[in-house]
Amino acid sequence: MKALITGASSGMGRDLARVLSARGCELVLTARREERLEELKRELGAGVRILPADLSDPAACFGLYEKTRDDGIDILVNDAGFGVFGPFDETDLDRELRMIDVDVRALHILTKLFYRDFKKRDSGYILNVASAAAFQPGPLFSSYYAAKAYVLRLTEALAEELRRDGSRVYIGALCPGPVATEFDSVADVRFSVRSLSSFAVARYAVDRMFARKTVIVPGMQMKLARFAERFLPEAAVVRAAYHMQRRKTHP
Ligand SMILES: NC(=O)c1ccc[n+]([C@@H]2O[C@H](COP(=O)([O-])OP(=O)(O)OC[C@H]3O[C@@H](n4cnc5c(N)ncnc54)[C@H](OP(=O)(O)O)[C@@H]3O)[C@@H](O)[C@H]2O)c1
Repeated sequence: MKALITGASSGMGRDLARVLSARGCELVLTARREERLEELKRELGAGVRILPADLSDPAACFGLYEKTRDDGIDILVNDAGFGVFGPFDETDLDRELRMIDVDVRALHILTKLFYRDFKKRDSGYILNVASAAAFQPGPLFSSYYAAKAYVLRLTEALAEELRRDGSRVYIGALCPGPVATEFDSVADVRFSVRSLSSFAVARYAVDRMFARKTVIVPGMQMKLARFAERFLPEAAVVRAAYHMQRRKTHP
């Protein structure tokens, strides 16, 4: 099998590349930091192609598809993403729009293009990296949580369309809580709960993807939190979310 992984220069994308490589997949890796991708290519050996790209530019997303459409991609992993933290009136609009371009728009474009191809041939896997942030509104991290809700809802809806069509194509959303990567330093936050290991999350995600699970939630803590949220009024969940977020700057 061959996998195209976005966000492969760091964190979960890099570990997803390691896990899929160890399972015999050939890889096409993308991110902006070319030297990081070169380093990973050296680590993983043969069967790795790198295509550096800035996915905040829609033209780069279409270009990535054009460069890989004849490569026989079987697995698309939409991992690239980042968060912008802070009160909504203080966060930088340009940075937020770039975040929406990467976290939502690039993922949407690549999902659409590969989804169509996969549907035609009735095979293929799409793993979209959402977040546990997708499960509720996130005051002080508002646009990031909203972006991840988009990823989760899009993915769930497409999974149902595929199921109705009797398609063998898989689509799923990975929804972890805090994971030890560069995410927190990029977003300039400190996690208020213990983070999971990125490699463990990647291994779990790949297992659950091949088991065709639509919503993948690693770690018992997040599974329990998601379960408990079902029994609480939305207003209480949002208030609790505010306090959780506030602790990221005032631990
Ligand atoms: N860490 C967490 O706690 C956590 C929890 C839930 C979900 N997530 C999600 O997991 C995904 C991976 O994040 P991570 O935690 O592994 O963080 P990370 O270590 O910061 O990795 C983010 C990746 O996204 C890439 N990226 C960012 N902007 C890009 C752009 N404009 N064009 C192309 N690639 C870009 C980065 O590559 P370059 O900088 O080289 O371009 C990097 O490879 C993200 O979607 C994130 O929202 C993270």
